[in-house]
Amino acid sequence: MAETDQAPPQSDQLAAMNLTDAVEKHAFSDRVLIRSIVGRPDGGAGLSGQKVRAGGWVKTGREQGKGTFAFLELNDGSCPANLQVIVDAGVAVLSKLVATGTCVVVDGILKVPPEGTRQKIELRVEKVVSVGEVDPAKYPIPKTKLTLEFLRDHLHLRSRTNTIAALARIRNALAFATHSFFQEHNFLYVHTPIITTSDCEGAGEMFQVTTLISESEKLEKELIKSPPPSAADIEAARQVVSERGEAVKQLKAAKASKSDITASVAELNKAKENLSKLEERSKLKPGIPKKDGKIDYTQDFFARQAFLTVSGQLQVETYACAVSNVYTFGPTFRAEQSHTSRHLAEFWMVEPEIAFADLQDDMKCAEAYVKYMCNWLLDKCLDDMEFMAKSYDKGCIDRLKMVASTPFVRITYTEAVELLEEAVKGGKKFENEVKWGIDLASEHERFLTEVKFQKPVIVYNYPKGIKAFYMRLNDDMKTVAAMDVLVPKVGELIGGSQREERYDVIRERISEMGLPLEPYEWYLDLRRFGTVKHCGFGLGFERMILFATGIDNIRDVIPFPRYAGRADL
Ligand code: 4AD
Ligand code: MG
Repeated sequence: MAETDQAPPQSDQLAAMNLTDAVEKHAFSDRVLIRSIVGRPDGGAGLSGQKVRAGGWVKTGREQGKGTFAFLELNDGSCPANLQVIVDAGVAVLSKLVATGTCVVVDGILKVPPEGTRQKIELRVEKVVSVGEVDPAKYPIPKTKLTLEFLRDHLHLRSRTNTIAALARIRNALAFATHSFFQEHNFLYVHTPIITTSDCEGAGEMFQVTTLISESEKLEKELIKSPPPSAADIEAARQVVSERGEAVKQLKAAKASKSDITASVAELNKAKENLSKLEERSKLKPGIPKKDGKIDYTQDFFARQAFLTVSGQLQVETYACAVSNVYTFGPTFRAEQSHTSRHLAEFWMVEPEIAFADLQDDMKCAEAYVKYMCNWLLDKCLDDMEFMAKSYDKGCIDRLKMVASTPFVRITYTEAVELLEEAVKGGKKFENEVKWGIDLASEHERFLTEVKFQKPVIVYNYPKGIKAFYMRLNDDMKTVAAMDVLVPKVGELIGGSQREERYDVIRERISEMGLPLEPYEWYLDLRRFGTVKHCGFGLGFERMILFATGIDNIRDVIPFPRYAGRADL
């Protein structure tokens, strides 16, 4: 840093800079990240003697030596590990620092603690710069181990816990890995719309976007405040118009002065305006506007029905069929009433779309992407993964290693059903009946990946009756070129397919599924003009986190879970 080129900084800034010279000071705040101290290979020991400013929230604090000093475990979220901080009673009022959740900023000197201590380094405080106090009697997130379920009732504070913070870092890492993977393979990141007028999956599970309801409520309130004009009001206004009209006529007949006529015409116009306003208002009716007995969406915000997207696929295909390799990564919304630990009403999906590629390429890409994410976590998030292994799922690190290094099994849907039928014959009990043509239930998927193969399994070529209209019809005319990637802990992680690129076939499929053609005309244009073999898939981002960490419920791996009956904050 060429600090000498600049004007001398203010004393406070100068202090901070000098304090942190040797350790990497955070570029946009006046303290050192705790990660840059305790995250070093030597645990920070090599920094002994350095002056630093650190800030964070107290995980645990206790007064010691009859109140002569206090130990604080400080965490700023930059890594799972805490910085041990020691404050003498002469420096600050210790009782104000020790409550869990207290925010403190301190200046001090890093010292190697006496032998036999777990920490490699600790901070001896010289000055307490600031304190954000906590009343422990009122703080909802005390030190005791809290269940994830309990924390769901405190979404705004749960990020203060080790688990939710670790999940936030893992989630962040997986998002970075996602962009890194697709950018490395020359995919273009395309932002598909959140508000859409097409139903991608044709499953009718969409949230509607409308202002009709709030508009109608507004109107209702307004009509109560100032009721619409009565028939008598309108008649009276009409009378005024006719009187004023008569007055103008008379003035003209009497050849009155120009200015008198102009004034009288102005009066007439005012009366006409008033009448038309009253007539307009008299037409206002409370409630949702209707036409021919149906809701009149031409009066809605977009002048048509609109929804939150269930998938960016259809829109991203328009870019795949122009710039070849693309992906979208954004929130998707499904109004399904599934109260399971694998479903959310709002979740994030990664959806690549590849032109000049078929189902085999699709599977290859999906496998490479999942493996890339596993390696990324092992490489960049091992401390958080170790925390997960210790606290939630002993096997999660081994699972990442296994998935990163083992080829995924590939079986057709027909083979999968045969394997399940065999298992049933052998005494395995499923809640859902197994026979060719069924949509595999989660219990079937998990049996295949967790029991039968004990590794990721890609099932492909599903019966056309249970899959979406856009999947390519196979030559057997019974199955489509679909593929699902099933992984241990989760079941379905990815759903994808080769897309139907033949105009006549896809038209037929849309009709066959009872969907209207008109809304898909633009999608059909991609087949009418310059059609291309292409494929893609969608990875449920939260399911990837479940799979990686071994957390049981999807509501805990997204910062702000939304599901039937619940949307806090
Ligand atoms: O299998 P799905 O429905 O596929 C699609 O939406 C395709 N349009 C994707 C594509 O080909 N571009 O959803 C893809 C994945 C599932 O495999 C699952 O992991 C996840 O999205 N998913 C959900 N995750 C959380 N909550 C829900 N309600 C989910 N529904 C699907
Ligand atoms: Mg699916």
